Amino acid sequence: MIKVIPKKGYSEKELDDFFDSFKNQDISWKSGKAFGAVYYPGDEYAQIISKAYVRFLNENAFDPQLFKSLLAMENDIVSQVANLISPEIKLHGNLTSGGTESIFLALLSARDWSKKNRQIENPEVILPSTAHPAFFKALRFLNVKAVIIHVDVLKWDLNSVENEINENTIMLVGSAPAYPYGVIDPISNLSELAVKHNLLLHVDACIGGFFLSYLKKMGTIVPEFNFNLPGVTSLSVDLHKYAYAPKGSSVLLYRNPEQRLSQYSVYSSWQGGIYASTTFMGTKPGGVVASTWTALNHIGDDGYLDLTKSTMISVKKVINYIESNIHLELIANPDMSLIAFKVKDNSTYELADLLNDRGWYLGRLQNPEGIHLVVSAIHSESIVKSFTNDIDDSLAELFSTNFRSSIQHLGDNLLKRMLNLLPYNQLKTTLAKQAKKSNGKPSKKRIIYDVKNQLSESESNNLFRTIMDRFYS
Ligand SMILES: Cc1ncc(COP(=O)(O)O)c(C=O)c1O
Repeated sequence: MIKVIPKKGYSEKELDDFFDSFKNQDISWKSGKAFGAVYYPGDEYAQIISKAYVRFLNENAFDPQLFKSLLAMENDIVSQVANLISPEIKLHGNLTSGGTESIFLALLSARDWSKKNRQIENPEVILPSTAHPAFFKALRFLNVKAVIIHVDVLKWDLNSVENEINENTIMLVGSAPAYPYGVIDPISNLSELAVKHNLLLHVDACIGGFFLSYLKKMGTIVPEFNFNLPGVTSLSVDLHKYAYAPKGSSVLLYRNPEQRLSQYSVYSSWQGGIYASTTFMGTKPGGVVASTWTALNHIGDDGYLDLTKSTMISVKKVINYIESNIHLELIANPDMSLIAFKVKDNSTYELADLLNDRGWYLGRLQNPEGIHLVVSAIHSESIVKSFTNDIDDSLAELFSTNFRSSIQHLGDNLLKRMLNLLPYNQLKTTLAKQAKKSNGKPSKKRIIYDVKNQLSESESNNLFRTIMDRFYS
C-alpha cells in the first residue's frame, strides 16, 4: 500500500511491477473465469478499441460546442443504437456512463415531466421485484415512491400491476430481460397498460438490448420489447456489456423529445457562466465516446453477429449440461445468455462456494437460491468444458461422504450456530473484520447468506453497509 504521493514519481518499469502485483490478486478473467462483470471481444478488437480510448484520453464531451469530434461520435452512437433497437421510429437519446445512470435519468425525466404535464407532486413508479437495484437506488435519490410487484421467478400477476395504478403513478417498468433469470418481462402487456392509463413505460434493456437485437437478426424469435410497442416511452441499452465498449458506456433512448428535455440540467444565470449539461456527468470522458464509437464501427454488424452466435453455442452447451445432470436444474428457460440454475437438493450455495474455490466468479440468486451466469464472447467451448468439468468435480466433492467432507460440514454448522448466537453488533464487527481479512476472497458465502437470513431486512442491510465500509480507506 502506498499511503502518500511519492516525492519522485515511479518509473514506467516500477509501475509495471506494481500493476503485475495488483493484477496477481485479481480473478483470471482473461481465461474466461468470470461469468459476469467483464465483457471482452477478444484481443484483436480490444486493441483497436483501446487505441481509440487513448487517442481521446484528454478530450471532454461535456460541452457540445467544444469538441465537435466527440459530438459527432456521440450522435452517431445514439443513431446507430436507435436504428438497431427500433429502426422504424425516430428516437432521441444520449450517451451516459452506464446502466445505472441511464435508469436514473429515465426516472428523473419521468418525475419532472409528469410534474410539469400532469401536476403530479407525489410520484410513484410500479416495478417488478426482479428489476435491477439501480431502480431502487435512483428512486431513493429522487424521492419517488417504489411500488414493488413481487414476481415469483416468472409468474407475473398483471392484475396486481393494474390494481396498484393510481393518480400518482407516473411510470411502469419492465426489463428485457430481467437480470436474475434472463427472461424478458411481459413488455407488450405492460405497454397495453401504459397506453390504457396514459403512463410512461421504461424498458430496461441494459443487458439485453444489444444481444437480443442480434439474436433477432439471427432469426431467433424474441418477444417484443422495443418502441414498436406503443406504450414504450424510454429504453436503456448498455454498450459496456454486449456491445463490448469499455466501461462507462450506455445509451438512454426516448420516444418523446419533450421528455428528454426534462433530463437536462440548465443554470443559465450561474456566476461561472451559462451551465448546461445533458446527463448526470459534468465532465464526460472523450475516451469512452471515441472507443464506444470504435467498438460499434469496427466490430460492425457481422462481427456482432459472430460474437452473438458463438456466445449462444456456449450458452446451449451449458444449458444442455445442466439439463442432463441429475443433480442440477435450470430455474428458468432464458431468452438470451443469462443462466440461472440450482442443485436439486438445495446445496446450491455449497456448489457456488466450491466453484469459487476453483477460481470461477459467478452470481448467487436468492428466493429461490440459484447460481447465476452471464455468458459472453470470452466463454469459448473449451472454457465451458473446463467449467462443466469443475462442476462435476465439485458435485463429487459435495456428495462425498468421506471423513474430510463430514468434518467440513460439521465445522460449517458450528460456525453458523456460533455466529447466530452473537449479539447483532458483535456479529457485525466479527463479519466485517473477517471480510477485510479474507481480502475479498469469496469462499463460504453460504455461511454469510445463512446468517443474513436470520436477520431482519434493516439489520441485514446495515450489516452489509458495515462490511462494505471496511473495504475502503
Ligand atoms: C438489467 C440490468 N439493468 C441495469 C444494470 C446496471 O448497469 P450498470 O452496472 O452498468 O450501472 C444491469 C447491470 O448488470 C443490468 O443487468
